[in-house]
Formats: sequence, C-alpha cells, structure tokens
Amino acid sequence: SSERQISVSEATSGQSKLWGGRFAGSTHELVDALNASLLFDRRLARQDITGSVAHALMLGQQGIISQADARTIVTGLKEVMSEIEADLFEYRLSDEDIHMAVERRLGEIIGPAAGRLHTARSRNDQIALDVRLWAREAIADLSSVLLDAAEAMLDLGEREQDTIMPGYTHLQRAQPVLFAHHMHAYTMMLLRDADRLADTYRRVNVSPLGAGALAGVTHPIDRNLTAGMLGFDAVSDNSLDAVADRDHIAELLFDLSLIATHLSRLAEELILWSTAEFQFVEFADAFSTGSSIMPQKKNADIAELMRGKAGRVFGALVGLLTTCKGLPLTYNKDLQEDKEGLFDALDTVTALLRILPPMLETLTVNSDRMAEAAIGGFSLATDVADELARRGLPFREAHEIVGQLVARCIAEGRTLESLTPAEWAAVADEFQENPPVVTLDASVAARDVTGGTAPVQVRAAYLRSRQEIAARRETVSGWHASLPSLDDLLSKAHTG
Ligand code: ARG
Repeated sequence: SSERQISVSEATSGQSKLWGGRFAGSTHELVDALNASLLFDRRLARQDITGSVAHALMLGQQGIISQADARTIVTGLKEVMSEIEADLFEYRLSDEDIHMAVERRLGEIIGPAAGRLHTARSRNDQIALDVRLWAREAIADLSSVLLDAAEAMLDLGEREQDTIMPGYTHLQRAQPVLFAHHMHAYTMMLLRDADRLADTYRRVNVSPLGAGALAGVTHPIDRNLTAGMLGFDAVSDNSLDAVADRDHIAELLFDLSLIATHLSRLAEELILWSTAEFQFVEFADAFSTGSSIMPQKKNADIAELMRGKAGRVFGALVGLLTTCKGLPLTYNKDLQEDKEGLFDALDTVTALLRILPPMLETLTVNSDRMAEAAIGGFSLATDVADELARRGLPFREAHEIVGQLVARCIAEGRTLESLTPAEWAAVADEFQENPPVVTLDASVAARDVTGGTAPVQVRAAYLRSRQEIAARRETVSGWHASLPSLDDLLSKAHTG
C-alpha cells in the first residue's frame, strides 16, 4: 500500500541477519526471504505493541526493570505505533518478523533501554499472544457482520412474507413452504455459526504470556497482571502447551469454513433460482455481470464467487491441520505457517458476509413464478393424502390412491386444483361429501407445529431469531468493551 512496502529484493541486498554472539556468519541471502514472516505478520503490529506495553509495565511494576526504563520503553513503543499508523514505519525484511521490526525501531528511538523489553519473554509466547489478541478482535468484528447478514435474511423474508415457493427434497418439488421459512433456515445456520464463534472466543481468551520460550521464565513476573491489562479471562496452565497450541486458530478456521459452506449453499440456490429455467429471482444489476461476447447474458458472478470461495477457506483449515499434525512439542518454525491462511480466510468470509445484505436487499423475488412452480409440481399431494388419513383412511392407502391420481393428472395434463367435486368423489369415498381444499395457503397454514411453515409459526420463529440476534449483539459489544485499547494502556502508564 505504501511506498515503504517491503520487497523480497531488500532481503537479498546485503541486509542479512547476524544472530547475536553465537553466530560468526550471517544467514544466506535466500534464507532471509524464506524465513521472514514480516510480509504478513506486520498485520499484527498493533497487537504486538499492545502486548509489549503491558509486558513492559509489568516488568517495571515487579522491579524486574526500573520504572524509568519501563516508562522510556512505553513512550518509545507509542512512538513506533504512531509511525506505523502514519505509514512512516520502515518494514525491513531483514528484521524477519514484526517482533524484531518493532524492537529494532524501538532501539533506534530510545537507545539501549530497548534491550530490556525482551526480559522474561520469548518470541514464542509473544507470537502466541499477538495472534490471540488479534483473533479476539477478529471474532468480535466477524460476529457483527455475521449478525448483519442473519438480519438481512430475516428482512428479506419479512418483505416477502406472503410468498409461497416449492420446498424441495432431492431438488424435486416436494411441499409448498413460505419463502420466508426458506430464508429463515439460513438465518438459523448463521446463528449457529455465531454461537460457534462465541465458543471459540472463550478458548482464545487465555493469555499465553509468561510461557517464555517453552518452560516459563526465571524472573518474578506477574502473569495475572499482564493478562488483566490485556483483558484476558485467564492465563494458560502449561507453558509448553501455551507456545505449541494452535487449536484455537484451527477452530476459528473451522468456524469460517462452515460459514463459507452455508454461504455457498445459499449462493447455489440463488444462482439456480436466477436461471431462465427457474425465474424465481433476479439479481440487481449491481450484483450481476455481463458477458464480453454474448450480449443477452446476465451472469450471477457475485453469487458464484460466494459459492466458490469456500475452497480457499477450507484450504486454510486443512493446511493448518496438516502443519500441526505430527509436530513435536513445543514451538517449531512450521507454526509460522498459521497466519497467512488465517488472515486470508477471515478476509474472504468477511467480504462475503458484507456483500450479502445489499445483495439480498436488491434481489427481486418473483412470487408468481414461485407459486406457479409450487402448484405445478403436485406439491399439494401430501396434503390430499393427509386429508384422506384425517377422514379415516390408513395413510399408506391414502398415499397409494393419491399417487395414482397424480399419475392420471400427469397423463391428462391436469393439476389437482382443477379437479371437480364429482372427480374428487370418484377418487375416494371419503371425498363424497366435500372435496379437499387444495390451495397453497391451506397447505402451508396446516403445518402448524413449532418450526413448521405455517405463517403463525414462521412469525414466532422470526421473533425468536430477532431476540437471539439482539442478545448476541450484546455479547459482541461486551467483547469490544473488554478488548484493551492501546491508548488506555498508555494513559494507565502515565497515571500509574
Ligand atoms: N515469526 C514467528 C512466527 O510467526 C514468531 C516466533 C518465532 N520464534 C522463533 N523461535 N523463531 O511463528
């Protein structure tokens, strides 16, 4: 984005790293490019600095470093953060990762005191901390857009509350359902996704800081102090696990994968429905594209991307599971591979969720076509069989009779609705007195069980979902409130 963006060529231009006293030579120039994570972990800069501020404050408070040094470090970190925000920070690939880049710059700004920041800390617990800080925010922000999308489904359903469509099994017309009921099925999926994210949040919200490289640290640190400053619920109970664990990332990637699956199913339905064969819906021009050769074409590219992007999200999940499989304890550089997939999956799913509300809001729903299809497909056959059963016939016999009736109608090119009372009377004795009512409205209204498609039930379900969305929004704003702001931490440093 900025002109200061790093390039791989910088790594090969003689800035290779010298790794302290143990090393006589510097790394091979090609090693720097492969080894560095700065190209992607620069995204964790704010989290890294926030964690470092908390760590420095704790070191000062515990007398592990002087209060004066702690203050100098914190002031310097604030300066580094300002440079990053102003896009003035120079990312050098030779810094390897965001931790070293920040520390290098801190040293340039405050001098030798910078060398005390890394007391009682390793990059292993530092990166584990940074990702957890990042993931909490990511889950909170993702949950918000997820709830927006769930709400957009309900809005569409309410806008089309009288629309009846064929419900399908095996992609064959089965029984009529309210279009609103169909949309609500997707709301339910997204609300379960929100629940899964909340569960993941709980496991992310544990501080690994203090695990050190792997075994804990020798200085009298206060892990609860840093955890408290950073808004964590708890501190990790095992230092080895704290630096080797990537379960929460895998979990988040699974959550994202399932969201992508749900969006993919919806997208596929919208694509099908928008074809000339269905003509159930039409996308607004803003959510369609044309063809460069066929002038008549209006393609559902956006929905196709919503269907297709699931692949890369699954890729991130499978990639991380594969990276972690068989990996010995504790930290291994393999684990550096956790971040790119995570960032990409989060960005991908966020983009899809954000496009859903305007796409649904501008969707034209062709209720006449849907009703026509619901009637046309004999989807009221079950209702007729149910009516025979209510009038005393065993359901299996009723099923047989109505099946024959449907076959006859197909052969004669007729629909159930067109049968005369005399014809109904000929179908079964039970229909002598009065023929069955075969209308779409009667059909859906009859499915008056909790979770069924009767309008009264669907309205009740919408109400419950609206309430759930409101409750989840409360939870999300609670998360946002508990996330540490760097400014708050810094002002604490100055007053405390
Ligand atoms: N860049 C590393 C990562 O993303 C940070 C931790 C490096 N630790 C180490 N001992 N090399 O995983």
